[in-house]
Amino acid sequence: MPVPFFNYSAMHAMYAVAYRNAMADVLDRGAFVLQTENEEFESALAEFVGASHAIGVGNGTDAIVFALRAAGIGSGDEVILPSHTYIATAASVHFVGATPVLVECADDHLIDPDAAEAAITPRTSCLLPVQLNGRTADMDRIQAIADRHGLTIVEDAAQGVGSRFKGRMAGTFGAAGTYSFYPAKTLGSFGDAGAVVCHDGEIARQIRLLGDHGRNEEGHVVAWGVNSRLDNLQAAVLLVRLERLNEEIDRRRSIAATYEDGLGDLEQLVLPPAPDVDPDHFDAYQNYEIEARDRDGLKAHLSNHGIGTLIQWNGTPVHQFEELGFTVDLPRTDELFTRCLLLPMNSMLTDDEVDSVISEIRTFYGA
Ligand SMILES: Cc1ncc(COP(=O)(O)O)c(C=O)c1O
Repeated sequence: MPVPFFNYSAMHAMYAVAYRNAMADVLDRGAFVLQTENEEFESALAEFVGASHAIGVGNGTDAIVFALRAAGIGSGDEVILPSHTYIATAASVHFVGATPVLVECADDHLIDPDAAEAAITPRTSCLLPVQLNGRTADMDRIQAIADRHGLTIVEDAAQGVGSRFKGRMAGTFGAAGTYSFYPAKTLGSFGDAGAVVCHDGEIARQIRLLGDHGRNEEGHVVAWGVNSRLDNLQAAVLLVRLERLNEEIDRRRSIAATYEDGLGDLEQLVLPPAPDVDPDHFDAYQNYEIEARDRDGLKAHLSNHGIGTLIQWNGTPVHQFEELGFTVDLPRTDELFTRCLLLPMNSMLTDDEVDSVISEIRTFYGA
C-alpha cells in the first residue's frame, strides 16, 4: 500500500468545511490585516500554551529573529544551538548580528546540555534549544546551565507546539519561544506563518513593534521594524486547527505507540522515546525520527514500495555547510546523519497505512 510522507490534500479535506466557512467570513468582511481573527488566535494560542502573550508573525524564522532581538541578543554575542536543526535557527542568530555556536545533540536528538555547557565562553549570552520533532528538551538542565552562567534562554519551538516537559509547554520556558505554522507542521496554516510567545509585557511590545514597521498602537513609529505580520486569513485557518490540536496530537501519539509495538524489537533500529516511557516528557510527535542500520537501503526499499520518508534538512546538519564558514567538529551529529530517517507521521495516516510501513520495514530487515 503506498503511503505518502505527507498528503497536503488529505490534510485540507479533514477540515475543508470549517476552513471554507472561516475563510468566507474573512473574505466577505474584507478583513485581511490585523483584524479580529488575529487577536482571537493570539489569545487562544497564549491560553493553549500557558503564556501571557502571543504575537503572530509572518513565519517561524522571523519569530526567532524577533525573539532574539527583543531578548537583547545582538552584535558581539555568541548563541549556543544544536547543529541538528533547520538552517533558519542559525540564520536568525546571524541576522541579529550574533554568532551561532553549534553543538552536538543527545540520544533523543535534541541539544546535548553537557555539550552546550562546554561551549560557553565569556561572549556567550544565550542558549537556543530547539524543541525538535515535537519534543521538549530537559529544560531543568538547560535552565540550570543558564542560571550558572547568567545566560538568556530563547526556545526555537517551531516543531514543538503542544509538547511538554514536566507539564509545561514548549515555548514557555525562556525569555521568549517561537513557533512555525508551515503547512506540514502539527499546527499548520495555508502558507507561511509563525508566532512568538512570552511572559514579559515589554518583550511582547518589542516583538509587536519589530513585526509591524516599529509602529505603536497609535500608528506612531517608535522603533525600526519590518513587515512580518500574521495574515488574518491564516489566523482564521489556525483558529480552526488550534481547536482540534489536542485530538491531532493524540492521534500522533497513538501512531507512535503503534510504531513502537511493531518495530521496537528490531535491533537494526533505534526508535524515538515511546509516548508514555517518561512521565516528564509529553511528546507531540511532529516527526517520528528513527535511526536505522543501512538507512539508505531502507529508504530505497520503502520508496520502491511507495512509502515516503525524509531525511531532515536534506541530510545536512548546519555545521556541515562549509560555505557558511563553520569549522566545528561534531562527530556524533555526523554519525547520526548517516542513520536518521523520518517515517510518515501525521494525523491523516490510517491504521492500515501505519501497518504497511511497519510491515515493509520488517520485510527489509528479514524480521
Ligand atoms: C526547527 C525549525 N526552526 C525554524 C523553522 C523555520 O520556520 P519557518 O519555515 O516558518 O520560517 C523551522 C521550519 O521548518 C524548523 O523546523
